[in-house]
Amino acid sequence: MKKATVGIIGGTNGMGRWLADLLTAQGFTVHVTGRKTQMTAVDAARICDVVVISVPIAATSSVIAKVGPHVRKGQALMDLTSLKKEPVALMLQHSEAEVVGCHPLFGPSVTEPSGHNIVLCRGRGDAWYALIRTIFENTGYTVLERTPGEHDRMMAIVQVLNHFNTIALGMAIAETGIPLSEVSQFSTPIFKTKMEIVKKIFTESPELYADIIAGNPDTNEVLQTYERVVGKIISLLAKGDGSKLKDSMESVAKKLF
Ligand SMILES: NC(=O)c1ccc[n+]([C@@H]2O[C@H](COP(=O)([O-])OP(=O)(O)OC[C@H]3O[C@@H](n4cnc5c(N)ncnc54)[C@H](OP(=O)(O)O)[C@@H]3O)[C@@H](O)[C@H]2O)c1
Repeated sequence: MKKATVGIIGGTNGMGRWLADLLTAQGFTVHVTGRKTQMTAVDAARICDVVVISVPIAATSSVIAKVGPHVRKGQALMDLTSLKKEPVALMLQHSEAEVVGCHPLFGPSVTEPSGHNIVLCRGRGDAWYALIRTIFENTGYTVLERTPGEHDRMMAIVQVLNHFNTIALGMAIAETGIPLSEVSQFSTPIFKTKMEIVKKIFTESPELYADIIAGNPDTNEVLQTYERVVGKIISLLAKGDGSKLKDSMESVAKKLF
């Protein structure tokens, strides 16, 4: 059987390039487009069986609206966005094609699939969904099928709460006014590890992390919880005594682990 042709909008870099490499290695014909490629996003949408959107979050809605109408019944429209509710709804709205939402839970440097998960959301249709799922599973990735809402709810913890906490740590350290070069001389192993994460979040792709936090529909709720918990920790320490905080940590540990 002839292998499908895949067009990746935003395939010149990042996750789009990761998918292009994976599919090319599997024998698929892959066309990639970026803002400066000769082939445009609409060209790719017209000629490819599967069209994948992998552009920065801020550009995703407008690219789906532009490309979607050119992806017709019988083709598939998929995205790799770190959020799922809005992009999947927009793909369904702007295209009559089969629709698959996809979020690889790792960055573009991952080449060893073992231990890495990919979330798939059914949008419309079964045929392309089944093929896409099989490709990822046969490559060695673990596929989790969830609804877009279930995905975003979990990402509100795994990404929103997690990255927000890292951003708060970096900003609070900067606010102390003490140069990191000086603080670093006193580093413990845990501090070193945390500062590597802080550095990655602040310097590698701040736009991605800001948009993941701003765009998740459950952000307000989890950040209200975070604010409440910070207040609670401060009040547990109010008398300068660690015993109440220790008791609270012990009861949380029983819940979590
Ligand atoms: N990075 C991650 O760790 C990660 C993990 C999972 C999912 N994702 C998701 O993957 C998607 C892409 O993120 P990324 O980190 O791979 O981004 P990226 O490395 O910045 O790559 C973005 C791609 O989109 C193209 N592009 C940039 N701006 C565009 C615009 N305004 N219109 C059309 N194309 C544009 C770029 O091509 P040119 O520069 O050649 O124009 C490039 O090929 C996002 O939805 C993100 O949420 C990212």
